[in-house]
Amino acid sequence: MIGIFDSGIGGLTVVKGIMDTLPGYDIVYFGDTARTPYGTKSSRTVIEYCLQNTRFLVNSGAKMIVMACNTASSVATEAVRASFDIPVFEVVTPAVDLCLTTTKKAVIGVIGTRATIASGIYEKKILGKNPDAKVHCAPCPLLVPLVEEGWLKKPETTMIVKKYLHPLKVRQIDTLILGCTHYPILKNVISRKIGKRVAIIDSSIAMAKGVRSFLADHPDLDSTLAKTGTARFFVSDITPQFRKTAGRIIGRPIELLQADAAAFPA
Ligand code: DGL
Repeated sequence: MIGIFDSGIGGLTVVKGIMDTLPGYDIVYFGDTARTPYGTKSSRTVIEYCLQNTRFLVNSGAKMIVMACNTASSVATEAVRASFDIPVFEVVTPAVDLCLTTTKKAVIGVIGTRATIASGIYEKKILGKNPDAKVHCAPCPLLVPLVEEGWLKKPETTMIVKKYLHPLKVRQIDTLILGCTHYPILKNVISRKIGKRVAIIDSSIAMAKGVRSFLADHPDLDSTLAKTGTARFFVSDITPQFRKTAGRIIGRPIELLQADAAAFPA
C-alpha cells in the first residue's frame, strides 16, 4: 500500500495524480484536517506532526510514504527518513526537476506557504542544479484556507491571487512552481493572473511521475505493493465542507474516515 499524507485535503491532488499515473495501486491517505494549516507553524511542530502521520500510515499497512505537502517536505523530510526504514518521498525535488526541464529563460517563480518559502528549500535546490537561474519566491498564506473552504471561483479569491502574483509578474518569470499541494486546485485562476505564457509546474503531477519511475527501478518494492484498486481516506477531523472539497478534488464523492483522534494530539 502507498501511504500519502498532507496537512489537510490539498494532498488529494497528489492522490489524484498517483491514481491516474499508477492505476490500481492501493492507497491509504491521511489528511490532518484537525491541525491544518501546517504552513503557519514552527518546524518543530510540523516535524512532530509528520512523525505521527507517518506512524499512522505505517500502522495502516503503508510500505512507502509520500509526503504530499510542500511544507512537510520542506522541514520534516530528514526527520521522517531517519525514523522510518521505508522509502519516503518528498514533493520538492520532483517539482524542481520538472521545472528545470521546462523553463526556457530560467527565470522562475515559486509560490508556497510561509513555512515553505521561509525554509528557502526551492531556491537552494534550483540553484544547486542551475546556479544561473533567477528565483523569485512569494508566500501566499491565504490560499490554503480559501481552497479548504471551497472558494475556488469567488471574485475575492481572484483578487488575492492577483495581488500575490504581482511581484512575480513584474520580474517576468517564464515558469511558476505551485509549491503547495493545495494550489493545483486554483491552477486556472493562477494561470490567468500570471499570464498564459508562463509555464505552470504542478508538483502533484511531478510527484506522481517520480513515484512511478522509482517503482519501475525497484521491482522488489513494487511487488510488495497491493494492487486491488482500494483507496482509503482518513482525516483527523471530518466536516461537511471537507467532504465536499475532497470529492471535488478526486472528481467523485469519496468516503472520509475518522482517524483515531488519540494518535494526533493537538
Ligand atoms: N498543502 C500543504 C503544502 O503543500 C500546506 C498547507 C498548510 O497546511 O499550510 O504546503
